[in-house]
Amino acid sequence: MAERSRSRGHNSASTTVAADPPLASRLTLRALQTGQASETDGADVIAGLQQTPKVLPSKYFYDDRGSQLFDQICHVPEYYLTRTEAHILKTYAPAIAEITGPCELVELGSGSATKTRFLLDAYGDRNQPLYYRPIDVSGGALKQSALALLQDYPTLSIDGLMGTYEAALAQLPPATLPSRMLCFLGSTLGNLSPTQCNRLFAQVREALQPGEFFLLGVDLQKSPQQIEPAYNDREGVTAAFNLNLLRHLNWRFQADFDLDQFRHHAFYNHRAHQIEMHLQSQCDQVVSLAILEFSCLLRRGETIRTEISRKFDLAALRSQLEHLPWNPDTKVFRVLEAWVDQRSWFGLLLCQIQS
Ligand code: SAH
Ligand code: AVI
Repeated sequence: MAERSRSRGHNSASTTVAADPPLASRLTLRALQTGQASETDGADVIAGLQQTPKVLPSKYFYDDRGSQLFDQICHVPEYYLTRTEAHILKTYAPAIAEITGPCELVELGSGSATKTRFLLDAYGDRNQPLYYRPIDVSGGALKQSALALLQDYPTLSIDGLMGTYEAALAQLPPATLPSRMLCFLGSTLGNLSPTQCNRLFAQVREALQPGEFFLLGVDLQKSPQQIEPAYNDREGVTAAFNLNLLRHLNWRFQADFDLDQFRHHAFYNHRAHQIEMHLQSQCDQVVSLAILEFSCLLRRGETIRTEISRKFDLAALRSQLEHLPWNPDTKVFRVLEAWVDQRSWFGLLLCQIQS
């Protein structure tokens, strides 16, 4: 299969998108070079399947279909996260624009960038120039959202970067406007382990100059009775999203996961304050990933953990940001604002880098 190279999908070649001329002149989309082979060649998949218990990296949810399913999740009644964060952003975007002044927006894991519109509106209302750098592993989501935004914001320019957070932060081009705000919304931070989270904060701090901003949206700790249904919606969209990871691996690595032989299982881990999404094997089975020349045995009832979704304590997170370990360049985060909704379910932190 000529097309099935070891690095198919989101990290392939560099492209400039052909769009309608007025849009094309305001849009570039580039695929990032990944420094680490493990990000492109499936070594992370092999390592995860060799672990006990088995895990798979959650970035593999997001092929085109996975991105569409995530957008559907955002609309199911049980998934309160998107609605709650959107409400906070809509309320405080004007204050954010006032605090930061003219500012390039960089967004990690931008997806459909629906909530980003509140920020663009706020900067637009102040007649400030609009420059947006979305970063996402999902090339389809990146291209679609960029074209939709360019249609709706005639003065907006977009430089989309296709690749992982790590690769993007390491290769971030210089800011085009006097300041820059790095946004990480949707509580996607919760999909990182504490170690990955610390590493990301350190990379964000390194990528930003003193005076620049970091806007972070996080889901907060609350009763599991409120959280668990968000990951077990009645329509089964989250189940389809979870199973789609296997479909993606089948395509990407010529694997033979039989989706009918796995079941979605999501529960709240009280000790770790996190939702865990698993795929549970319904029989004893051997799965092979031909491109990776790897196979493994799954026992009936055994699970593969596909995602953690950590729920945060706002005060602890604030303190973590302000007291990050290992700080060679003496830059520190200062949390300027921490906004929450009426029920304190979701938090939005505006931080500034100080030297
Ligand atoms: N920020 C949006 C989308 C959240 S979904 C919102 O708040 O609704 C998470 C997004 O992050 C997806 O679009 C996914 O493709 C992207 N993503 C997941 N892992 C990633 C990684 N390691 N590097 C870059 N993007 C990633
Ligand atoms: C993107 N991320 C923050 C979502 C979450 O809630 O952890 C992904 C998701 N997984 C299941 N539903 C939504």
